[in-house]
Amino acid sequence: MKTEVGQKKGQRTDLEAEYAAALREYATGGGEAVLGRAYELGRRAIAERKSLLELVSLHHKTLKELFQNSVDRRSPGHLVQASCDFFSECVSPYEMAQRGFQDAVKALRQLNETLEEEIKRIAYSVHDEAGQLLVAVHLALANLGQELPQGKQSQIAEIEGLLTEVEKHLRRYSHELRPTILDDLGWIPAIRFLAEGVSKRSNLQIHIEAKISGRLPSTIETALYRVVQEALTNAVKHAKAKSVWIRAWIKDQVLHCSIRDDGTGFDAQAVQAGTGRKGLGLIAMRERLSAIGGTLWIESSQKRGTELLIRLPREGDNVNSSSAR
Ligand SMILES: Nc1ncnc2c1ncn2[C@@H]1O[C@H](COP(=O)(O)OP(=O)(O)OP(=O)(O)O)[C@@H](O)[C@H]1O
Ligand SMILES: [Mg+2]
Repeated sequence: MKTEVGQKKGQRTDLEAEYAAALREYATGGGEAVLGRAYELGRRAIAERKSLLELVSLHHKTLKELFQNSVDRRSPGHLVQASCDFFSECVSPYEMAQRGFQDAVKALRQLNETLEEEIKRIAYSVHDEAGQLLVAVHLALANLGQELPQGKQSQIAEIEGLLTEVEKHLRRYSHELRPTILDDLGWIPAIRFLAEGVSKRSNLQIHIEAKISGRLPSTIETALYRVVQEALTNAVKHAKAKSVWIRAWIKDQVLHCSIRDDGTGFDAQAVQAGTGRKGLGLIAMRERLSAIGGTLWIESSQKRGTELLIRLPREGDNVNSSSAR
């Protein structure tokens, strides 16, 4: 068990001492009221960030002492049963916290699905509505061109050229916002499509190595796409990176994805703990991954740039490790 700051080795914390006292009291005849204390001790253990394993070890230690100094004449069977009841009561707040966590993850997943629907709607309206408006502007411009003298035609052509550029960019953005490739071919081809656009716009070399074949459930593919999208945005916006390497592979039923840049790096711990932070990207990445059962690890230093490591346990998915590139 971890030793708390300021606590001498072998010395018991308040919680440990109270746990031992309450368990002893209950096992030697204490009634319902003592069982209520077990529940409160469980709540306190959570508040003091004691892990379940630490609690098990504390229980085990106390039970051993109870047997060793057995001042009570009750049978060992009684001691075991009473300590079992006491322990169950003590861990029940952990179970409630676990259920609360599962509910929160479910809510998060629903929120992401709603968000995804909204992104789809925006992507389609940028594509269709803005596209239609631009067609109308093209027509109006062509009409205007007919009425203008020959000398002004080159200006009209210039505006048309700019409009075509705007159109191209809008199309590209709307496709990246919600690539149909993501639904049709999966997250790896969608990331390749995204990387191509980002590369062109920002002069960033993006290398992709994906040793994965098969498809994942669409919520998972969408979450992975969004996480890589934010990582690339950060690499362009903050890192001043020249290159980014995206790798994905499966090992021991766990999907791994690493996004590494050779940029300036940052103090990841300070940024993530910071209270005055304004950015949402890293928080959103973590939440998206947590909603699908994944985790995110960030390693960053001034010399080596930044690496984001995603781990996602995948049991029962139709996804395989392969050398497909
Ligand atoms: N790849 C990176 N290289 C260097 N710094 C980074 C990188 N990724 C994140 N950061 C730093 O971490 C901070 C937080 O990133 P985060 O994505 O959460 O927010 P943001 O990009 O500032 O804003 P938002 O994502 O909401 O538009 C950034 O402001 C930046 O200082
Ligand atoms: Mg960001």
